[in-house]
Amino acid sequence: MAPTVTGVTFRKLETIAIDSWKESDMTSSADKKHQDAAHVVPGAPNSITPQVEEPTTPTDPAPPKPDQSGPTPHTPTGKKLPVEQEDLAQQGRFLTTAQGARLAETDHSLRAGERGPVLLQDHHLREKITHFDHERIPERVVHARGAAAHGTFVANGAATSVSKAGVFEKGRETEVFVRFSTVLGSRGSMDTARDTRGFATKFYTDEGVWDLVGNNIPVFFIQDAIKFPDVIHASKPHPDREIPQAQSAHDTFWDFISLHTEAVHHTLWNMSDRGIPRSLRMMEGFGVNTYRMINAEGQSSLVKFHWKPKLGVHSQVWEEAQITGGADPDFHRRDLADAIESGAYPQWDLGLQVFPDDGEAMFEGIDLLDDTKLIPEEIAPVHIVGTMTLNRNPSNYFAETEQVAFHPGHLVPGIDVSEDPMLQGRLFSYLDTQLTRLGGPNFNQIPINRPHTDVNDMFRDGFHQTAVHKGVAPYHPNSLDGGCPFLAGAEDAPLIDVPAEIRQGQITRKKPASFDDHFSQPRMFWLSLSEVEQEHLADAISFELGKCYEQAVKERTVAVLANVDQTLAATVAGNLGLPAPEPVELADVEPSPALSQLRGTWPLDGRQVGILATENSPAGEIGELVSAVFDAGMVPLVISTRGGKLADSEVDVSRTYLTARSIEFDALIVADVPPVAAARVLLDEAFRHHKAIALREDARAAVAAAGVDLDADGVVDGATLPALLDEVKDLLAAHRVWTREVPAQA
Ligand code: HEM
Repeated sequence: MAPTVTGVTFRKLETIAIDSWKESDMTSSADKKHQDAAHVVPGAPNSITPQVEEPTTPTDPAPPKPDQSGPTPHTPTGKKLPVEQEDLAQQGRFLTTAQGARLAETDHSLRAGERGPVLLQDHHLREKITHFDHERIPERVVHARGAAAHGTFVANGAATSVSKAGVFEKGRETEVFVRFSTVLGSRGSMDTARDTRGFATKFYTDEGVWDLVGNNIPVFFIQDAIKFPDVIHASKPHPDREIPQAQSAHDTFWDFISLHTEAVHHTLWNMSDRGIPRSLRMMEGFGVNTYRMINAEGQSSLVKFHWKPKLGVHSQVWEEAQITGGADPDFHRRDLADAIESGAYPQWDLGLQVFPDDGEAMFEGIDLLDDTKLIPEEIAPVHIVGTMTLNRNPSNYFAETEQVAFHPGHLVPGIDVSEDPMLQGRLFSYLDTQLTRLGGPNFNQIPINRPHTDVNDMFRDGFHQTAVHKGVAPYHPNSLDGGCPFLAGAEDAPLIDVPAEIRQGQITRKKPASFDDHFSQPRMFWLSLSEVEQEHLADAISFELGKCYEQAVKERTVAVLANVDQTLAATVAGNLGLPAPEPVELADVEPSPALSQLRGTWPLDGRQVGILATENSPAGEIGELVSAVFDAGMVPLVISTRGGKLADSEVDVSRTYLTARSIEFDALIVADVPPVAAARVLLDEAFRHHKAIALREDARAAVAAAGVDLDADGVVDGATLPALLDEVKDLLAAHRVWTREVPAQA
């Protein structure tokens, strides 16, 4: 039984001695962990709790933690396997060679005498080192840094009027795998770089795999895929010194953006708070490109996809994102995994904007094939068609998150492509790059990529072929295999190329006139933001250009910004020490309130509350507070001067002032503040980053000494700790206290 104080059960997962877990009832233990998850600080590295002494009794490999799972077992050709997920992992109690022979030694090479040379005949040595030498595969050329989770999508039936895809049938539940990513950084770069985030979803539908490969920003930098290498080369580190890593604050990026002005709209989104999300769970997702759908009656429509997070859209502030990059470069992937582990399953509604497929691909004067443009929700509402829940962490990063291969051309009957020139280029690019990244043409057979339906493609051979095909006639037509496999008839739900009308024209490399307007939508975005969001955006551009070396790049960009908004351009110019640019005639646009993320209040699932304490703090009260924070669906982290337990109590200390940094906490509740610099920094940063701060009355002097204005908005106090939680919850529901006046950072 886990220890208790004032009725609180503290984190102590069912402890399973390493040599006896198999004997204990693992299923019920796993269930128990799930039940207890709500009162456990997430992050335990494994499903078993190790003992201090090196284990001496062989056991089978430990099962995954209750929150983890691999892909559901299917054959390379799509049949459900009658085995458990664990059966896909290594088996047995003894270390073996790759061929399954048991090994008695793995710590020493085979040598000619104890001090003699190593023998070439040591196959175990060579096999072990050779495999290690080949552990790495090329990282993605873009979106290399990612984190992923398994889940389900449940349709509400609303999309059946526009699409005959079975995945949209009311009540239909479909397994999904979602990978979130940054675009620019290498695989080891920090999570919180200012960047666009990828939001790619693989739906394992009964009709084949459907991939919705989108971003957290609704528009893109370029209008034609042929410019993709240009924008990426400009954005990646400079080719000579390979700096800066995972950042757009450098000359080549702004040189390109200021010369290729169709990129301005996406750049403004990146410079807005959308570029520095608080959590992957708190991002919108967008299909960006326009797709085509066809319903059971054969009518087609054009659509844009939206993912709406149930937790709202929230961001860090820039200084916080920068600190996070150093203090916890894995911030987003940790947050996603921890939330799922503690049962705070992130959810998104999938929505559709639907437009007539009348051959024009225009809506209210906006070209639906120009992905630098969005369609405001105020003129084309988003219809919710289902809900996605992410509820399982991957059990192996490489097998799942790294080897997953998304492709915008993985479509199912009822969903098709449009003539969007970006989408058309993407249809070529993903398969092409995956051939190299995943080492050959059979990567669809990697477990995470296997369809959950029959695969009978007549593709044969190639590197890493794991299917054992039968038959002698992998060609069509044939008679030797009885004509099989047959082509599907209309009644067999085949993929359809929607017979859309294409307007004839001359072969040309020109773009349409409707792609010419590069500034009215960036202006709409700017005007739609609240004052605080506008300030953040202007600061972000000032920061990025301030990091550029070339004066010409700065001047040119400021001149371009004048086409968006004179105040924006003048503010940035002022910060850079440049004259304000000449005003230009600006587009007359309506703001779209839906584009501001500072609207309403939101659930608190998985938010982290830091509880500042010292060894002398009232442990009973803190114990009650810990319990109440857990009950509110959040994670309490007690910070004290040393690890272990608070004095004379069973209250776990989760962090010390040595390991804690403000970026981890959405709000602080202060029992006591020790006279150490780290505690003062913690409070100062939380205050300047607009986080809710609540304190016990007798901590007022110490908190004030840390530079916190006790009269500022969002700083509250009370006689006891648990009583403060309700106020903190109210403040947190709005994410941050934006009305608080804080000292200027620079
Ligand atoms: C609408 C614009 C675009 C969006 C929303 C988008 C989104 C994404 C996402 C989310 C990923 C990461 C997938 C994952 O997690 O594995 C990705 C990867 C990639 N994208 Fe795009 N992308 C866009 C445009 C393009 C274009 C125009 C090209 C090339 C012509 C391109 C080429 C690639 C490549 C090569 C990868 C790496 C794929 C892999 O290695 O598996 N993307 N993109």
